[in-house]
Amino acid sequence: MSTAVPGSATSFADVSDYVSGPYAPVADEITAVDLPVEGELPAELNGRYVRNGPNPADVGSLDLRAHHWFVGDGMVHGVRLRDGRAEWYRNRFVGSAKMSAARGLPDIPGPNWSGNQVGPNTSVAGFAGTTWAVVEAGGCPVELDYELETLGRNDFYGTLPGAFTAHPKRDPSTGELHAMVYAWAQWMDHVQYIVVGVDGRVRHALDIPLSGMTMLHDMSLTPNWAIIYDQPCTADIDVAMTGQFPFRWNPDYGNRIGLLPRTGEGGTGASAADIIWIDVPLGYVFHPLNAFERDDGTVVIDVCNYQKMFAADVFGPFRDGLSRLERWDIDPGRRSCSVTVVDETPNEFPVHRGSVGLQEHRYGYCSAPSLDRSQGWPTLKHDLLTGERRIFDHGPGRAAGEPAFVGRTGGDGAEDDGWLVTFVHDMVDGTAEFVVMDAQEFDRRGYVARVSLPQRVPFGFHGNWISDESVPPPN
Ligand SMILES: [Fe+2]
Repeated sequence: MSTAVPGSATSFADVSDYVSGPYAPVADEITAVDLPVEGELPAELNGRYVRNGPNPADVGSLDLRAHHWFVGDGMVHGVRLRDGRAEWYRNRFVGSAKMSAARGLPDIPGPNWSGNQVGPNTSVAGFAGTTWAVVEAGGCPVELDYELETLGRNDFYGTLPGAFTAHPKRDPSTGELHAMVYAWAQWMDHVQYIVVGVDGRVRHALDIPLSGMTMLHDMSLTPNWAIIYDQPCTADIDVAMTGQFPFRWNPDYGNRIGLLPRTGEGGTGASAADIIWIDVPLGYVFHPLNAFERDDGTVVIDVCNYQKMFAADVFGPFRDGLSRLERWDIDPGRRSCSVTVVDETPNEFPVHRGSVGLQEHRYGYCSAPSLDRSQGWPTLKHDLLTGERRIFDHGPGRAAGEPAFVGRTGGDGAEDDGWLVTFVHDMVDGTAEFVVMDAQEFDRRGYVARVSLPQRVPFGFHGNWISDESVPPPN
């Protein structure tokens, strides 16, 4: 029997299985030092790889008829590398009102404009000299110290009007962050475009009216456009009233992207009325890979696109079908979008070398999810110039998360001259590793290095390499 919920198709299952197997949370916060390394960690990798993801602290009391993967308490897992050593592993709950209450402690410091009780669970990154855990839909960013302890909520030092996102885009030419943000339940009629300066202060915010509350997970950025994804996965009040995750597949909403001109100094001159809206085929994109413009004005975006989202599977993103890699060629003048399928097979968590952001990229790297837990999740390398796809197979039952690209210092300057780092979760024996792959040699030589971790790292969302140059360690 299946569970019928208002505003949705019949769900696949009565209860969420996003708390079992590789999704099962871990209970303990661990610190482990001098981790065993197999292979050779590149000596120039000085910094931390940190990843965030949901890790419900109260899994025993969850209502699994309603639990959605996206809503658990945040937990960050990090590995600190220095001079070729894996100096430590730490995992820590991201601080929140809820975690503090559970521990019998006062709430963490910092403003809480939306009254959000759960800490950011979606991404973690270095910016403006410190470490931020971030989430969409209204939760305030939480600042972490170097060793991943929560310092408190930080609304960019009092400058953020409301919501933020897990997917700001950094403009390499300025170092600034651009973000499209939404606040479920607080803002039902608009989203917001935010620009954060290199000093960590918001210097621009623009309201963008929309006809519905779309799940605005990410954005794209090119030299001349900030791009909004107004997609048919929208908040349903009736669903929310049942206590379930509020976003559902809503094909009647249509699907479009909006090109907001980045005119004026620093791209802050345009208004919402200047947006060029372009219809695109029905589907749902969590994650674009990169975006750039050709000389003729064509805007090119590579995306991991699902046919639908939260239609039958109301507990998580994968069982309505997995996403494929597409290239969208957009003509702003004709308001048209031409779709080319790059790879029909599953592709998610797309990344590229950060320094080619907003420019034409040759390479993209993805994780390849599988619904079969006996299968692995390989890492894919796409050559968008030649169409070649290479596969790094981590082995049966070994699932690689989102990779992060780290450029090699003083290398040959090739776009793929660097490393990919990520966590690999072994679903057979319940262990996890931090691994380093050679992005250029890729599948030809196996791991550059692998570091055994003292516990599982449950399937999570987004991680980043945070160099010691960007966020220095304490003295
Ligand atoms: Fe994401």
